[in-house]
Amino acid sequence: MATFNEKKTCSQRMENFGRFVWNSDTGELMGRTLVKWVYISLYYVAFYLVVIGLFALALFSLMQTLSPYEPDYQDRLQSPGVTLRPNNFGEEGLEICFNISEPKTWAPYVSTLHSFLSAYNTSLQNATNRNCEHMTGYYPKKTFSGPDDTTYSCQFTREMLGNCSGLCDSNFGYDTGKPCLIIKMNRIINFCPGNETDPPSVDCTATENGELGEVEYFPSNRSFPLYYFPYYGKKAQPNYTNPLVAVKLLNIKNNTELSVVCKIVGKGISSDNPHDPYEGKVSFKLKIET
Ligand SMILES: *[C@@H]1O[C@H](CO)[C@@H](O)[C@H](O)[C@H]1NC(C)=O
Ligand SMILES: *[C@@H]1O[C@H](CO)[C@@H](O)[C@H](O)[C@H]1NC(C)=O
Ligand SMILES: *[C@@H]1O[C@H](CO)[C@@H](O)[C@H](O)[C@H]1NC(C)=O
Ligand SMILES: *[C@@H]1O[C@H](CO)[C@@H](O)[C@H](O)[C@H]1NC(C)=O
Ligand SMILES: *[C@@H]1O[C@H](CO)[C@@H](O)[C@H](O)[C@H]1NC(C)=O
Ligand SMILES: *[C@@H]1O[C@H](CO)[C@@H](O)[C@H](O)[C@H]1NC(C)=O
Ligand SMILES: *[C@@H]1O[C@H](CO)[C@@H](O)[C@H](O)[C@H]1NC(C)=O
Ligand SMILES: *[C@@H]1O[C@H](CO)[C@@H](O)[C@H](O)[C@H]1NC(C)=O
Repeated sequence: MATFNEKKTCSQRMENFGRFVWNSDTGELMGRTLVKWVYISLYYVAFYLVVIGLFALALFSLMQTLSPYEPDYQDRLQSPGVTLRPNNFGEEGLEICFNISEPKTWAPYVSTLHSFLSAYNTSLQNATNRNCEHMTGYYPKKTFSGPDDTTYSCQFTREMLGNCSGLCDSNFGYDTGKPCLIIKMNRIINFCPGNETDPPSVDCTATENGELGEVEYFPSNRSFPLYYFPYYGKKAQPNYTNPLVAVKLLNIKNNTELSVVCKIVGKGISSDNPHDPYEGKVSFKLKIET
């Protein structure tokens, strides 16, 4: 008890501290001899080397189980998202609205389509991808082993979009009120939509009691051929380009807003997910003014 209450003067404290830092009687530095310090440092160096080693080993064995060719965690069976070009978002989602007699209202749509389709230029597709038109059924089954195991992809050229290729009609019909729209299905690795005989296909309809009128699809069978599926991923198929279906609306009622939905129909594709309005379908508003 006495020692507790014993008051030390300031100089005594400094002296005690000084002795703690360097005690010349015992040759101790901060309470340990130099030899002990060396041992303790070696101990910690060894300790951390082991920890780092174990961590690296764990990470390494995890990497071994991961394939760079496919995503590792897919928590549910996925259905592809669908996108539209031109992709102009208004207040209530996608909307395409223009006045035939005012080119500046539709020129942005036309230029969006041209730049989107430039990846599908025939010369480019010829140089990077293979013509698969003779193929039947799905793309061949393959397995990949790194690091640079790649395979060819099938070409999709803008010619396949006929009157919506932008080649014969560089305005895609916007100047005549018969606009082309392009439907694209997002990629899902290792996903084979449709079945051995029926490829996924596009079906556009008007909702809310509207009339879509006459519709022309390009390619005319409005389907995404099976040889574009499955997609094996960016590492395995670096040159892959998505197949497309173009929709040309030939007889839209002028000056009336229309709600349209384009669904992709086929086995393995659902379009009724209330949490994802772009799963398996794309909806948009359309208004053509004159
Ligand atoms: C694709 O072709 C169009 C017209 O044929 C041309 O204007 C455009 O520059 C080409 N784009 C590319 C990326 O080659
Ligand atoms: C692309 O290849 C096809 C067949 O090999 C050929 O007919 C066509 O002329 C080629 N097109 C271009 C632009 O190279
Ligand atoms: C991808 O395209 C390049 C040309 O841009 C070509 O050299 C390469 O072989 C292609 N890769 C595959 C896997 O086809
Ligand atoms: C493309 O358009 C032209 C005229 O605009 C038409 O005569 C032809 O039938 C169309 N082609 C197809 C495949 O519908
Ligand atoms: C493929 O699906 C279609 C309907 O989507 C069905 O009529 C056809 O019998 C199926 N074919 C096979 C081989 O399962
Ligand atoms: C649909 O048309 C494309 C392009 O013309 C063709 O490659 C494909 O085989 C056709 N698919 C069916 C099921 O007819
Ligand atoms: C809409 O207007 C255009 C241009 O005036 C005309 O060519 C077209 O026939 C009209 N469409 C309908 C469905 O009346
Ligand atoms: C479309 O543009 C023409 C010419 O500028 C104009 O007269 C007409 O009122 C416009 N239509 C609508 C519905 O705004």
